[in-house]
Amino acid sequence: MSPASDPQPSAPGTKAWAGVFREATDPRVEAFSESVSFDRRLADDDIDGSIAHARMLAACGLVTLPEADAITQALEEIRADIRAGRFEFTAAKEDIHLHIESALTARLGDTGRKIHTARSRNDQVATDLRLYCRRAIDRIDTGLADLQRAFLGLAEREADLVIPGYTHLRRAQPVLAAHQLLAWCEKLGRDRDRLADCRRRVNVMPLGSGAIAGTSLPIDRSHVAEALGFESVAANSLDAASDRDFVCELAFGIALTAVHLSQWAEEWIIYSTQEFSFLRLPEGFCTGSSIMPQKINPDVLELVRGKSARTIGNAQALLVLVKGLPTAYNRDLQEDKERIFDSIDTLEAVLRVAAPLVAGTRFDRERIAASIDRGHLDATSLMEALIAQGMPQRKAHETVGHLVRRAMTRGVALADLTDEECSRDCAGWDAAYRGALGASRAVERMRSFGSTAPAAVAEQVAGWRRRLGVGAVDT
Ligand code: ARG
Repeated sequence: MSPASDPQPSAPGTKAWAGVFREATDPRVEAFSESVSFDRRLADDDIDGSIAHARMLAACGLVTLPEADAITQALEEIRADIRAGRFEFTAAKEDIHLHIESALTARLGDTGRKIHTARSRNDQVATDLRLYCRRAIDRIDTGLADLQRAFLGLAEREADLVIPGYTHLRRAQPVLAAHQLLAWCEKLGRDRDRLADCRRRVNVMPLGSGAIAGTSLPIDRSHVAEALGFESVAANSLDAASDRDFVCELAFGIALTAVHLSQWAEEWIIYSTQEFSFLRLPEGFCTGSSIMPQKINPDVLELVRGKSARTIGNAQALLVLVKGLPTAYNRDLQEDKERIFDSIDTLEAVLRVAAPLVAGTRFDRERIAASIDRGHLDATSLMEALIAQGMPQRKAHETVGHLVRRAMTRGVALADLTDEECSRDCAGWDAAYRGALGASRAVERMRSFGSTAPAAVAEQVAGWRRRLGVGAVDT
């Protein structure tokens, strides 16, 4: 939605609550306290909520059916005006709720003045924000599923590629590239679960709580809940008008997702350096340098990493925002919106570039193959072969340690040691132990559930294909 105009100062006497006041609001206060400059994004949700509310008021006999129809039609016209940028915003009307209500009254007179029956802006804003967050969660879920599909696609493409696995950023054990790519699918899968779980608590209907205590008017809250697709109706009006747990929870869910994506970005920045050369990022997702002509920089990944910072900050800001609030609505709560909007925007922006970046990335199989024998990635495999023949683990660990030291001294791989050399460090050395050596063999010998063994990884691929609804590939 693009603003038709920025909020302007008010004329006196235009307030929705003018009755008790003898003085107009100070223009500095209007400028200080307005939220319409950012909560105008809630316009669609506010209108959806008001339409549902009006229909319920009619069903309960609090307005007539023709009045509810007129309200519905006028609200749809207002929605069209806002979308078309024809709607005037002014700081005098504080927030999006007052804007839409006053536009309704300008169109319908006294009929418009009935929309706020049995409603407060406290339960109204809580409803709007829940609707907004619910939609955001659904979009984010779609974006995360797309990213998972991109990781899965790359994993299938590189099904047999063995790469060095790192711990402490030191060569550790060989793994299938697919195994590592699917690790991101797992993390993002948990992120999706977390957001889906959060969605259950978002999807509770506060409207009808009034300002704090409910209403003496004969309303039907479940009518509104059903119309707006809420799973249930909030049970305590005091809680419902003031609860922002759902915002904090969503901010955390987004922050943790962004942290996962930051870790991924960091890993791929490293893997795509000239020093590693495991990955080639798509050039369309890299940028150049204004002074060094040769540079192809991973700025997109750096921004994915960098943008996680603001999502963490937003989650923290929201917790600090609510921590000192006495029960029920306090105006502090208005500060929740920019933080959660920013977190949602940030994650969506990241997701828009992440999936195509992954889909366009290629592994440099030659470079990886050229260095796979470095770093004694197969040492643990050899150790386990000794254990399998009955050697106690600590003894096997020490024995292979000696063999690695010997290989390091000679500057060769474990497989390059002669049987005679091996026998010196390993009593009962058998040439058959060589079957455990080499990165590919080490991978193939894995057998535990969830390991990097090709069969286990193939099962992961099949599982993710099912979960992500990826169709069978014709070969
Ligand atoms: N703009 C306000 C907010 O975002 C709406 C609720 C105002 N309620 C009130 N009692 N002043 O929180």
